[in-house]
Amino acid sequence: MPDTGVSKILVKEQEIVDIVAGLGEEITDHYRGIGGELIVVGLLRGSFVFMADLVRKIHYPLVVDFMAVSSYGNGTVSSGDVKIVMDLDESVEGRHVLLVEDIIDTGSTFKKVIRMLNNRNPASLRVCTFLNKPSRRKYDIQIDFCGKDIPDEFVCGYGLDYRQKYRNLPYVGVLGE
Ligand code: IMP
Ligand code: MG
Repeated sequence: MPDTGVSKILVKEQEIVDIVAGLGEEITDHYRGIGGELIVVGLLRGSFVFMADLVRKIHYPLVVDFMAVSSYGNGTVSSGDVKIVMDLDESVEGRHVLLVEDIIDTGSTFKKVIRMLNNRNPASLRVCTFLNKPSRRKYDIQIDFCGKDIPDEFVCGYGLDYRQKYRNLPYVGVLGE
């Protein structure tokens, strides 16, 4: 293994390609025929790699926008204190919103963002996450499109970071000791 700090690969590059293609198909099927505008909202920074791949697999006209929220500080445990760091440019009112996240852990980030976006009266709001850690959930969240459930391990790569590093790894791995 090259010296990346990663001790185990959890989701290989080819599996990522397959997961994203599958999600793209599901999402395209869902919105096909729905009419109206689709806005795909990514949560920065973690979702940027997944989002770039995902939108190219969604065959429905769409616009993209981003929001930045922060909950982790620099550690590996959610502080539960979610801050909106950067809001959307676009209005979501009357539009179909697909919220895209890299990983849902306790659910506190998503719960807060979902509540905020719902207050802006979208035509619909659906949720897509690349990874999901169901064992860590503290808040009940309906996930409409989920890439892969993973065990309770801190992962990085494919957009996910540890102290802002490792986002450029093309796979998802677990950091070594
Ligand atoms: P939640 O609010 O506890 O659901 O945390 C969600 C956010 O925590 C995600 O958007 C990630 O930025 C971060 N996060 C949760 N688990 C991991 C992980 O295993 N690796 C990297 N970031 C994570
Ligand atoms: Mg994140």
